[in-house]
Amino acid sequence: MKIIAGPASKELAQAVSAQTGFQNIPVISKIFPDGESYIRLDGNVQGEEVAIVQTTCPPMQDGRLFQLAFMADAAKRGGASKVTAVVPYLAYARQDKMFLLGEGISVETIARMLRAAGIDQLLTVNIHSELTLAQFPFPSKTLSAIPLIAEYFIKKGHKSAYALSPDKGAMYIAKQAKAVLGGDAGHLNKTRDRYTGQTIQTAEGLNVEGQTVIILDDIISTGGTIVGAAKILREKGAKHVFCGCVHGLLIGDAEKRILGAGVEEIVGTDSVPGSVSKVSLAPLISQELKAQ
Ligand code: R5P
Repeated sequence: MKIIAGPASKELAQAVSAQTGFQNIPVISKIFPDGESYIRLDGNVQGEEVAIVQTTCPPMQDGRLFQLAFMADAAKRGGASKVTAVVPYLAYARQDKMFLLGEGISVETIARMLRAAGIDQLLTVNIHSELTLAQFPFPSKTLSAIPLIAEYFIKKGHKSAYALSPDKGAMYIAKQAKAVLGGDAGHLNKTRDRYTGQTIQTAEGLNVEGQTVIILDDIISTGGTIVGAAKILREKGAKHVFCGCVHGLLIGDAEKRILGAGVEEIVGTDSVPGSVSKVSLAPLISQELKAQ
């Protein structure tokens, strides 16, 4: 196998190459003055299975999706025998249903587009809902980075911390963290108005008085969910509050608002390279690619 280093995930792709021993193929990329993307694979892929590592987080998630499609097309035209897309953050994964009449299912459109471009298989990390993958036109798998994030907190001295998910749907995340941290786990409840996007968070029977709590979520976007959860935890007497997420998009002043709400540290992964990407997905992705 060869690893194609997508422009959005160059460092992660290099780390995956180093950990797997698979050759790294650099990608020459540029954006034309009119905003269109250009890419060229700088290596031979004839007869090879390739894994294209390219996250599709903001900014420019649409452009990054197009770059991914162009790299897949280039790989197939260059004679690659199989193209696996390794997309740590898959854009549009939250529009996985028709929530309101007249909507489409954006993530399925993206998957069909990627299939048409030549992608044979997809690997992603903590997709918002695993059920989404069943509708994709190629074999797809989601890995979980939560154990790696929990290990980060253990190394920081927070063994036995309480793992809290900010909504019931993400309770699987809290349970995975609990399995590593060894403390308790629980969840808040969150309801969202589909028209305004406003959310209401509540806590039922949550006892975190005097405890160290780690709020764990798949995505932090505006930070509203974590800020709301931190407020509830303060009211409930938590002693220390931390936050771990797989995809720290941190739109606008989200980071500042979360820290301002009393969260002592935000920990994310390099699915979204940036100030909180303290945990690398390279070991997780490497292990999976080597097993294929
Ligand atoms: C949604 O259910 C996700 O799991 C996250 O909780 C959500 O995307 C976070 O968004 P925000 O940071 O804007 O509250």
